[in-house]
Amino acid sequence: MADSDKTKRPTLGIKPDAEAPSARTRAPVRGRHVPRDHSKPLPKLAADKAAEAKSGKERPKAGRPESAEGGNERRRPRPPGSVQARPEPREQPEAQAPSSHDKRAPYAERPRTVNVEHFFVSCPRGLEAELVRELAELGVTDARPAAGGAAFLGDLQLAWRVNLWSRLAIRVLWRVAEGRYRSEDDLYSSARELDWPRLFDVSRTLAVTTLAHKSPLKSLNFASLKIKDAVCDGFRASVGERPSVDTHTPDVPLVLYLTADRYTLYLDLSGEPLNRRGFRIEPATAPINENLAAGILRLAGWSPEQPLYDPMMGGGTFLIEAAMMALNIAPGLNHHFAFEKLGSFDMVEWQRLRKGAEAAQHEREPLAIYGSDNDPLMVRAAGLNLQAAGLLDCVVLREADFLQVDAPPGPGLVVSNPPYGVRLSLADMASFYKDMGDTLKKRYAGWTAAFISADPEFPKLIGLSANRRTPLYNGPLECRLYSYRLVSGSNRG
Ligand SMILES: C[S@@+](CC[C@H](N)C(=O)[O-])C[C@H]1O[C@@H](n2cnc3c(N)ncnc32)[C@H](O)[C@@H]1O
Repeated sequence: MADSDKTKRPTLGIKPDAEAPSARTRAPVRGRHVPRDHSKPLPKLAADKAAEAKSGKERPKAGRPESAEGGNERRRPRPPGSVQARPEPREQPEAQAPSSHDKRAPYAERPRTVNVEHFFVSCPRGLEAELVRELAELGVTDARPAAGGAAFLGDLQLAWRVNLWSRLAIRVLWRVAEGRYRSEDDLYSSARELDWPRLFDVSRTLAVTTLAHKSPLKSLNFASLKIKDAVCDGFRASVGERPSVDTHTPDVPLVLYLTADRYTLYLDLSGEPLNRRGFRIEPATAPINENLAAGILRLAGWSPEQPLYDPMMGGGTFLIEAAMMALNIAPGLNHHFAFEKLGSFDMVEWQRLRKGAEAAQHEREPLAIYGSDNDPLMVRAAGLNLQAAGLLDCVVLREADFLQVDAPPGPGLVVSNPPYGVRLSLADMASFYKDMGDTLKKRYAGWTAAFISADPEFPKLIGLSANRRTPLYNGPLECRLYSYRLVSGSNRG
């Protein structure tokens, strides 16, 4: 990266351009084998028998097409609980951890008896199709997109694996009951039927969150209360005591999702949202969610062989996600999950999965991943966050104005969420976006670019013709991801 102002170099993690690795000279990133995934049958829920009787032991379809984050798509009636299935024995390749190169790395498993459970994985809205692709890479064979996530069937260990490896997921929810309801009493009765002491120990704390779309119930808090009562009454009847409630950091978070006439009750297997990777130690201006950043890298078609540059990196989210992808680092390795507190948790199997993920990481090495920002505080924040992730030596950071600085060695992908509305006046914003377009045209011929913006004027002002516009949500903020192929002189809109 040529520097127009060398005196401005920050102190954290900056490498001179000569040290910057070229993607073309880097050794290819390879996946490694991990131990096979052994699994033992899981205990069945009390409601399973009724479910099987109702379903006629058919393989059920999607667990739940609607989003636990408030989606509104169509529902399919489902029997409560799970269904036991015995897959046909078949040839098994060695189970593999996902590889940053082999996007289709299968998680084939030994023939075994498995309990097929229903799961719903939530993700930022707009990433559902990409989440389905990611789940397939993680060994999920039947993921189906739904608003705000995807549903899949599998055993609990597959759900643990998704928790450990998914870069796009927010939560993995395990469906334990589902059906029609008209009143809070129906919800109570359904939850009361479950064998709660088999699901978790009475010493665990719990909390119930109710999400609803078009529910006729007046109070969602009251619905939560009814579920909590049902769980506690179930425990009292079975073991003579009840678990405590902890609404802040429950061991066992329960999620009740209501539509106009149907309810679904989930155990949240994740606990803390999966996008909280634990590396955000220094605040940044308007950071993008980690899983959205990872999804954008996928949507942009980025692969670790390509140079990547975030010229307005803020706290460095894109850089951290890209480096973790390039080094095949499981995003959940630093995470503790709610499923570790459930009765079905199997420490031996979990350690096997974790050890596989640890072995699958590549050695830290310099990567063709570059970041800059014109705010020295942001350069510091990105440096500290990358350091917390153990990735500071893998990337190249600098303080620079995007409009002044030359492109790093490329071509590759330039990706960013540019400043939006808050700190710049409308007039400044308009001229900044126009200057961004001019800079891209002048200095980034041959690169691809991906910018996420909530500003509806952005595509016009940048003056480039996007080859793709993808609707995405950054939290509640409706955005578009604009993708550009930058060919000198031909992108003027
Ligand atoms: C929305 S924030 C990016 C947040 C970042 N993606 C993250 O996750 O932390 C936009 C960033 O653009 C930076 N910025 C604004 N104008 C710039 C310019 N001309 N050159 C470089 N950076 C700029 C701001 O300092 C801010 O950190």
